[in-house]
Amino acid sequence: MLNLIFLGPPGAGKGTQAQRLARRFAIPQLSTGDILRRAVADRMPLGKQANALMDAGKLVPDEVVNGIVDEALARPEAERGFLLDGFPRTVAQATALDEMLARRGRKIDYVLNLDVPTDVLVDRLSGRLNCPKDGSVYHLRTNPPKRPGLCDRDDTPLVQRPDDKPEAVRRRLAEYENKTALLTDYYKPRGVLRTIEGVGTPDEVEGRIVSSLRDNLTTGPANP
Ligand code: AP5
Ligand code: MG
Repeated sequence: MLNLIFLGPPGAGKGTQAQRLARRFAIPQLSTGDILRRAVADRMPLGKQANALMDAGKLVPDEVVNGIVDEALARPEAERGFLLDGFPRTVAQATALDEMLARRGRKIDYVLNLDVPTDVLVDRLSGRLNCPKDGSVYHLRTNPPKRPGLCDRDDTPLVQRPDDKPEAVRRRLAEYENKTALLTDYYKPRGVLRTIEGVGTPDEVEGRIVSSLRDNLTTGPANP
């Protein structure tokens, strides 16, 4: 069983790497952002509640996302492990996650913190394209789809996320700095935090993550 968290600012590559690792380790990617966007697209009550906050680049209330994750962890596919992408984002969410895992007799193995400078983040977000159906992520320049504007996997027309407009990006970066960045201090004392250099090709970043996991899976966390 492998229980992983991806931490990192907007555009750091959490979704890109989470999809790769989910395939590699055959564990589900639990992306609160993807789940919320699906709820918006399907006009679910949850989506109605979250839509305006997300478009403005603000965080959705803790109780809402905590509920989403608790439900996702209860599904049979999460029994083999999980890869959380975009959760937790506040200390209150991190303590709620600890409680959800303790209730199930589980714990976090590693927190993978992707480190990317702000100018690179802004460039990545301004060129990003998303598949609204399966959540696949592309970039106009660095990771273009095989056929322009269409998802490689299911031919769905790709879209730009509403929160990738410059003003929402600024707000998301500020939310990250004010509420999420300090989670590294939350996880550091447990010996589970692994900070990974997130600049380079997606293959290079994946290689760094896998070798950091391989080293640590052999030796185990510093403070189990
Ligand atoms: P969420 O969907 O989680 O967005 P985010 O954290 O802002 O992160 P992104 O998805 O924008 O970036 P990413 O790190 O996944 O990067 P990606 O792989 O796409 O959350 C959206 C909103 O939902 C929040 O603002 C909030 O409102 C709400 N929400 C979600 N979770 C919440 C929570 N827990 N609490 C409260 N509210 C919550 O890569 C970005 C681009 O770069 C892509 O184009 C990609 O192709 C490219 N790229 C990736 N890696 C590389 C590379 N190595 N080299 C070159 N290009 C690369
Ligand atoms: Mg993402």
